[in-house]
Amino acid sequence: MLREEFLKILQAGEEGGALPEQDLLFLLSCREEGESEALYKAANRVRQRHVGDEVHLRGIIEFSNFCIQNCLYCGLRRDNRAISRYRMALAEILEAAKKVRSEGFRTIVLQSGEDPWFTQERISFLIQSIKEHTDLTITLSLGERPYADYSAWRKAGADRYLLKYETSSPLLFRRLRPGTELTDRLRALSGLRELGYEVGSGNMVGLPGQSDEDLVRDIQVFRQFDFDMIGIGPFIVHPQTPLGSAANGRLERTLKVLAITRIVTRDTNLPATTASGVLDPNGRRQAMLAGANVIMPDITPPRYRQHYQIYPGKAVMAVDRQTITEMISSLGRRISQGSGRRIRSRKI
Ligand code: 5AD
Ligand code: SF4
Repeated sequence: MLREEFLKILQAGEEGGALPEQDLLFLLSCREEGESEALYKAANRVRQRHVGDEVHLRGIIEFSNFCIQNCLYCGLRRDNRAISRYRMALAEILEAAKKVRSEGFRTIVLQSGEDPWFTQERISFLIQSIKEHTDLTITLSLGERPYADYSAWRKAGADRYLLKYETSSPLLFRRLRPGTELTDRLRALSGLRELGYEVGSGNMVGLPGQSDEDLVRDIQVFRQFDFDMIGIGPFIVHPQTPLGSAANGRLERTLKVLAITRIVTRDTNLPATTASGVLDPNGRRQAMLAGANVIMPDITPPRYRQHYQIYPGKAVMAVDRQTITEMISSLGRRISQGSGRRIRSRKI
């Protein structure tokens, strides 16, 4: 039985009403049978109406797993001595980018840990080389760097930047990311926007100590910042980290946050995250039915991919393009041929 109040809030959201905090909390904490399904379906309709049936693919190249940060949840943290570290050479990254373009991708995401070896100049050179040889849209995901770096890379031709803020709780942020502050992260995001990047952000769901209220605040930050892309993934335990004995985030809770985010943000790009697929073989498919419209396949060369262990199980998620195409067409959707820029829908 769906409760009347639940239906009323859901309908108001679907019609574009600005839901207050307690309504978002109500949707997130729904437990009655059938209510999560109704939430996913509403998000799926909003997705259809505002961004259509096209699915954007973005190929990710993880070019370095060195990181100077020590996030408690992440396998790449600097104190983890159990992984072997690698850095791809600039020429190697360029070759991988060309290959990606020849396979039909229009966007690449260049991702790494926070690795100072890749100086402002080296990254600028890389961006220019990729732009010279391909017509790829370039997304950078290199963590927090000085504004001057972001500015130089934008001038060199970078189009987008991805910087998750992970959690909008200042306390949790500080506890999980020692030595860093949420305010600096949010300032970096504003800087990126000011420089004309398309800006992506996102969070993790199910972090130890994270409450429903924290997640609702995450959704409100998504709305305030009006991000062009928002990645929402479950926390997955990595045994070689200080959170090694915590519990995984739950897929259902992740899908709820995703669905509410779709309903609230209308036309933003929302990936079906790899982490959702790691928790459950059907996770990405379920996310595609709960508001997502983007998939980001890992196209890191296999000999490196196995070492980019942010969390376990990630490397085996590198499915081939055909499997993804089949999944998308089985949902009655199609792969976009465009660059996947966010297109603002009319405010309905
Ligand atoms: N589980 C899920 N996602 C994680 N990330 C880092 N560690 C984990 C984990 N244990 C995500 C963060 C970060 C991105 C690089 O990977 O959201 O932004
Ligand atoms: Fe480094 Fe990012 Fe992992 Fe933190 S989450 S340790 S910044 S790669």
